[in-house]
Amino acid sequence: MKKNNHTKLAQPDKQVAVTTSTPATAQTAGNPQEPLGSGLPRNGVAPERKRVAYADPPYIGQAHRHYSHDPRCAEVDHEALIRELNEKYDGWALSCSSPSLQMLLKLCPPDVRIGSWVKPFASYKKANPAYTWEPVIFKPGRSRKGRFTVRDYVDANITLKRGLCGVKPDRFCYWLFEILGMQPEDEFVDLFLGSGAVTRAWKAWSDCELQRRITDEPFGLYVQRKDLASLPH
Ligand SMILES: C[S@@+](CC[C@H](N)C(=O)[O-])C[C@H]1O[C@@H](n2cnc3c(N)ncnc32)[C@H](O)[C@@H]1O
Repeated sequence: MKKNNHTKLAQPDKQVAVTTSTPATAQTAGNPQEPLGSGLPRNGVAPERKRVAYADPPYIGQAHRHYSHDPRCAEVDHEALIRELNEKYDGWALSCSSPSLQMLLKLCPPDVRIGSWVKPFASYKKANPAYTWEPVIFKPGRSRKGRFTVRDYVDANITLKRGLCGVKPDRFCYWLFEILGMQPEDEFVDLFLGSGAVTRAWKAWSDCELQRRITDEPFGLYVQRKDLASLPH
């Protein structure tokens, strides 16, 4: 019997991480007593705080194949999930498989975008052509006007040996925060926490973005490999 997990998803519990940053505490690396800047964007105005959610449920039809160890494991009601994302959040993203895209788009509002996680290194299984990309349906929480132009795809290898199937790589996460137009002031809700990798990446990204405001470097984290290298992978 299909189990509707919608109510579980709606209630923050230990498996749902809600995270925000605190710009006012940003300090210089060299002299921790002396703030380099206000931690605000260049225009000096704190962005309006948005609520943004990321849903990374099991692929449709594959919950038990990959996550039977989890007592909550059940097929997720995607219709209820998308309704919840739309009603409760300013911005959101939903990871899914390419075979499910046709069905899921019918449940989405017309203004969603489709991003692509391209996987140069992927698990081939039996399919030919192999499945080597994953759609990300997303609705930005705010406009990216005035910020660097981010692509609607990211290339990042799948993770291995992380104790869970489907753990998202940091590079994917940093791209996700950019396409959603996020700012460090935002509230980030990680609805399918899994290993916690996305929530950890959010903390790293938002801390880095606050420092970037202070040092006034022009580009976002995602495009700069040196920044990626300086964060935990
Ligand atoms: C794709 S993984 C999430 C991976 C996570 N984003 C990461 O980077 O580690 C999906 C997660 O949802 C959990 N899960 C499976 N069925 C669920 C359900 N019905 N409700 C909530 N979570 C579920 C799985 O145990 C797994 O931790």
